[in-house]
Amino acid sequence: MAHRIAVIPGDGIGKEVIAEAVKILEAIGGVDLHHLPWGADHYLATGETIPPDGYDTLRSFDAILVGALGDPRVPDNRHARDILLGTRFELDLYVNYRPVRLLDDRLCPLKGRTRADVNFAVFRENTEGVYVGVGGRFKAGTPDEIAVQEEINTYKGVNRIVRHAFEHARLHGLRSVAMADKSNAMPDGHALWQRVFKEVRAAYPEIEATHFYIDALAMWLVQNPGQFQVIVTNNLFGDIITDIGGALQGGLGMAASGNIHPGRTSMFEPVHGSAPPLAGKDVANPVGAILSAAMMLDYLGKFNEAHRIERAVEAAVQAGETTRDVGGTLGTRAAGDAIRRRLQ
Ligand code: NAD
Ligand code: IPM
Ligand code: MN
Repeated sequence: MAHRIAVIPGDGIGKEVIAEAVKILEAIGGVDLHHLPWGADHYLATGETIPPDGYDTLRSFDAILVGALGDPRVPDNRHARDILLGTRFELDLYVNYRPVRLLDDRLCPLKGRTRADVNFAVFRENTEGVYVGVGGRFKAGTPDEIAVQEEINTYKGVNRIVRHAFEHARLHGLRSVAMADKSNAMPDGHALWQRVFKEVRAAYPEIEATHFYIDALAMWLVQNPGQFQVIVTNNLFGDIITDIGGALQGGLGMAASGNIHPGRTSMFEPVHGSAPPLAGKDVANPVGAILSAAMMLDYLGKFNEAHRIERAVEAAVQAGETTRDVGGTLGTRAAGDAIRRRLQ
């Protein structure tokens, strides 16, 4: 039976890159795609970010494919918080899986580095941290304004993402897991990460477990990314270092991600945003969106189909049939077509 997929193209270049991912999925077949119009246009026209039963609607699908959300006409980003972050929270998608894999040596921005140096997975905690919206403003807009945005870390939340990272390493025969926090400056909140990391690593004696402060880890990502196989970190740090990860792959447009609760309806999206300056120009790189669609098929157990897409992407990228951000000459649609032609 075909898998039922909710597709939320969203805003800006999200719409353009998702159109290419959809064409790939249609060429592969075996999926039943349902488009949901949620995004800035819908919000501005109706005042609704996501319908009252929106999360239940999403839960009724086998998986969700999203483009990007963010529009300068919605300066407080309200619709993106409800649609994107809301879905991460409401569907409890606690694993943000963001592989960082260089597809062609020529795309690496680091001097002398090759594909062997850029091949690791980031596991970003996706339901806690500073993203939970606990906080408030007092005397806003006055010289006495106080702004509080709390970071929430729970034993359950930290434990399940750290365990997931170690399980991934074991399953794939990877030799190390790096955990990054800021426990030197945040001794209370991040002591929990230290505690959990010690507990969990004990159950995986074959895996080398290393702790980094996040600032040093950011430095090592540029200086020597080859030392990393698996990185696990909190929501905010994971957000930041996966944009670095995008750059290591040649550009943010190359990076894919999954928001996952193992066994449940999960959501897949490129790492990049709606890039308003690029929108409507047929210049956005569709690779991150297409690889996110492949990751979704893999999650749904369609391993062959996922591999076919990944191989086609790799072949097109290695042939230089790409958009300009990664050195090619093609537009978004032509770059999508080049991948589609290579599907075996
Ligand atoms: P962005 O990721 O949209 O773009 C930053 C820059 O990266 C772009 O200007 C462009 O140079 C490059 N880039 C990104 N994607 C590209 C692609 N596919 N092809 C070629 N180049 C690409 O980040 P931003 O400008 O900080 O944010 C724009 C909006 O998107 C904001 O509203 C932000 O909140 C939102 N956003 C949404 C998501 C999401 O929906 N998952 C993620 C990040 C940002
Ligand atoms: C991402 C984005 C989001 C995040 C924004 C749009 C809230 O940057 O998915 O990486 O910070 O998680
Ligand atoms: Mn981000």
